[in-house]
Amino acid sequence: MARTVIAGNWKMHGLKADLAVIQAVADGLADKPDNIEALLCLPATLVASGAALAAGTDLEIGGQSCHQAGRGAHTGDISAEMLADAGASHVIVGHSERRADHGESDGQAAAQAEAAIAAGLTPIICVGETLAERESGKALEVVTKQVLGSVPEAAGTTSVIVAYEPVWAIGTGHTPTPEQIEEVHAAIRATLSQRFGDAGAKIPLLYGGSMKPGNAAEILAVQDVNGGLIGGASLKAEDFLAIYAAAVSQLS
Ligand code: PGA
Repeated sequence: MARTVIAGNWKMHGLKADLAVIQAVADGLADKPDNIEALLCLPATLVASGAALAAGTDLEIGGQSCHQAGRGAHTGDISAEMLADAGASHVIVGHSERRADHGESDGQAAAQAEAAIAAGLTPIICVGETLAERESGKALEVVTKQVLGSVPEAAGTTSVIVAYEPVWAIGTGHTPTPEQIEEVHAAIRATLSQRFGDAGAKIPLLYGGSMKPGNAAEILAVQDVNGGLIGGASLKAEDFLAIYAAAVSQLS
């Protein structure tokens, strides 16, 4: 059985003044059960200060992207080793906004995930179809291809997380039905189990896209949903903690 992971994705939001939100989330995790992880993926400028705040608490800190190379002439980019050095334990790779804004491919996502693993980080590898792809009946085909291309071979022997985020659900307030989520998560699980055996059955599969306190319990109850990747609702400690509480209550 895969462990449960509740991860926030702050995207390009957050200034020093928002460190209070991180503190409030960390405070709200007191008595966290062992089989659930809670983390916030912060903008790179806040990773070091966020990690310092979270040190000694049950909150973990992640980055939102990393370059596939360890170092070099890549102005504006950040390596996985730099994120680890700043105190991150996780990093998102292959988010649809990186794919759309920066033309990142499945191959790059896989290389970034490998770089993350080499630096001791757990990659959160994102996949998800567009509305046009869903409407043309290609959601499963697209997502399966992304999983095969974006999850590196190393996932068979080390910790990775996969997040299903339908592009049309991100930041829109629209969410797939539980049946639609179940269908895609089953396809991802089957692909991972076929490729990695028992290790594939243990990879946490997160759902992401307009997840909020009001729909979290229903989504988290879906078969093979092992947690959430939460954008907008992770910016408020109260909302993030309400989603975390919904996940905790399903563990017991
Ligand atoms: P959202 O974003 O929760 O704001 O829809 C999720 C994500 O893109 O990770």
